[in-house]
Amino acid sequence: SDSETYTIEKVKSLIKTYPDFPQEGILFRDIFPIFQIPAAVDCLINYLAELALEEAKSAKCGKIDVVVGLDARGFLFGPSLAIKLGAKFVPIRKRGKLPGPTIKYEYQKEYGLDVLEIQSDAILPGENVLIVDDLLATGGTCGAAEKLVLNLGGRVILNQFVIELVGLGGRKSLSGKTMSVMEF
Ligand code: PRP
Ligand code: HPA
Repeated sequence: SDSETYTIEKVKSLIKTYPDFPQEGILFRDIFPIFQIPAAVDCLINYLAELALEEAKSAKCGKIDVVVGLDARGFLFGPSLAIKLGAKFVPIRKRGKLPGPTIKYEYQKEYGLDVLEIQSDAILPGENVLIVDDLLATGGTCGAAEKLVLNLGGRVILNQFVIELVGLGGRKSLSGKTMSVMEF
């Protein structure tokens, strides 16, 4: 129930695993059951915020100025995390979704290339940025997001994930400090 106090171990037990989705051979980790339990969401967001505050402290960078969430499931965590940190929330989106001036970065997906975009005025030079997404797989998506942040003059303080698929070695393609809440 909502009044139950959640632990991260209990939140992890809510992740559902679907074999062969969206294609054969993929073990798909589904985060949405977490969102059926408000106390579990609260526990997870508080945990992400604590890790971020500790990292900002040990990096001696002052505060996190901007939380960047990655399209689409990074948007589930970014705004609540930004509120906890007293930071702005900024989206990075797939091609063609953001109006006005944007900068783009092309990255490798499993099959072919894709493009991520950020609004050009969303991050100011020197701002401290935390990038958040639901899941780290190959690291292609977050690697492209790091490039966009750096191209606007932002400093990537931390890449944060709820789930890391450790077998894929995605953190090797990231230049910034990287933390995940759960490993599969
Ligand atoms: C998934 C996931 C991450 C990315 C991780 O999103 O939410 O954003 O893949 O993979 P990578 O580390 O190999 O780049 P997806 O591209 O499926 O888009 P969605 O959130 O719009 O479903
Ligand atoms: N779950 C959710 N999203 C994903 C996965 C997964 O296992 N792999 C790549 N994106």
